[in-house]
Amino acid sequence: MNILVTGGSGYIGSHTCIELLNAGHTVTVIDNLSNSSHVALQRVRKITGKEVKFYHGDLLNRQLLETIFSQNQIDAVIHFAGLKAVGESVAKPFLYYHNNITGTLLLCDVMEKYGVHQIVFSSSATVYGAQKTVPLSEELPLQATNPYGKTKQMIEEILQDLSIANPKWSIALLRYFNPVGAHESGLIGEDPNGIPNNLVPFITQVASGRLQELKVFGNQYKTHDGTGVRDYIHVVDLAYGHLRALESVVQNNGVHAYNLGTGIGYSVLDVVSAFEQVIGKPIPYKIVDPRPGDIAVSYADPSKAKEELNWKATKGLYEMCEDAWRWQKTNPLGYEKEIQSV
Ligand code: NAD
Ligand code: UFG
Repeated sequence: MNILVTGGSGYIGSHTCIELLNAGHTVTVIDNLSNSSHVALQRVRKITGKEVKFYHGDLLNRQLLETIFSQNQIDAVIHFAGLKAVGESVAKPFLYYHNNITGTLLLCDVMEKYGVHQIVFSSSATVYGAQKTVPLSEELPLQATNPYGKTKQMIEEILQDLSIANPKWSIALLRYFNPVGAHESGLIGEDPNGIPNNLVPFITQVASGRLQELKVFGNQYKTHDGTGVRDYIHVVDLAYGHLRALESVVQNNGVHAYNLGTGIGYSVLDVVSAFEQVIGKPIPYKIVDPRPGDIAVSYADPSKAKEELNWKATKGLYEMCEDAWRWQKTNPLGYEKEIQSV
């Protein structure tokens, strides 16, 4: 199939492009490079030995979307493009609602016009907000608490309504837990702008000496060591999940939500300890106040994805840290500074 991947040069998108190409699909990417580098797709070509057609542009540019759908026989869309920083979304809600929601509306409108009704959407475990119990299963009521999370929840609802209006739509809503790690080649990985917000990129930059010490946000949560617990999932496992979801949307109409997580929760200090084993030296850290808005524990019930998509995460925490570290070591300053070595 010819798959349009929006946001395909980003962290999860680039890993998914590899799995799509390896599975024999043709891949067309649209990305405005607002949070990624064109080098990522050069690396994808290098890893797979296959071509990716790239449109450098914005999802908000309807004319460009029309061009893409008229120039290419697109069979299905995997929709990653979006802004994703929770803190920034609180400060700049209009930017997030406009980019994420208007972008999705335009995309779906053009898909409808060109008779393409199959879409796999990047949602997030953040749509669950704070729930009373874990593991989190797909039937729980959604209660996102920040503008970023609300864009995901609203887009899920918009896609539900599209499907009610036109039963030809076939939609997978993939609720990712905490994607970490990198492709085993060390050629592609997560390349955050500025100081990382997320735990694993922060740790890798401390380990490489780029940052001084990790700040652990709180150690008084009701967890086994007091630090926050999350369901970390290897980005390559996540990428495989998109292949399975794609196969499913081709076969089944309607809207289906799936958790993509391992079902296992690790604390911040568990992750620090796994990383220390990988690099063979201590990660300096200090305990600081909890981060506003953080929840104590989040991990998935991944059984629906296992039963309906025949998908299950296979890579453990050690492998996630090992692969994240290989990427960091090989590309200490991310993509842009490594252009000569591509
Ligand atoms: P990313 O920022 O690396 O990738 C997103 C890509 O979309 C970037 O390359 C960016 O340049 C592009 N983009 C953004 N707005 C665009 C627009 N208007 N037009 C064209 N391109 C645009 O992020 P990621 O970690 O790969 O996340 C991919 C998706 O998964 C996002 O929708 C994100 O919200 C979602 N998600 C990510 C996580 C996570 O922790 N990484 C967790 C849950 C959900
Ligand atoms: N943490 C620290 N220090 C840091 C960074 C994080 O102690 O410097 C802790 C957090 O308090 C939390 C855990 O590490 O307990 C994980 O934090 P992340 O920021 O890596 O991830 P979150 O679970 O907060 O959020 C991530 C994405 C969201 C997404 C969510 C669910 O950032 O966009 O996973 O998928 F919605």
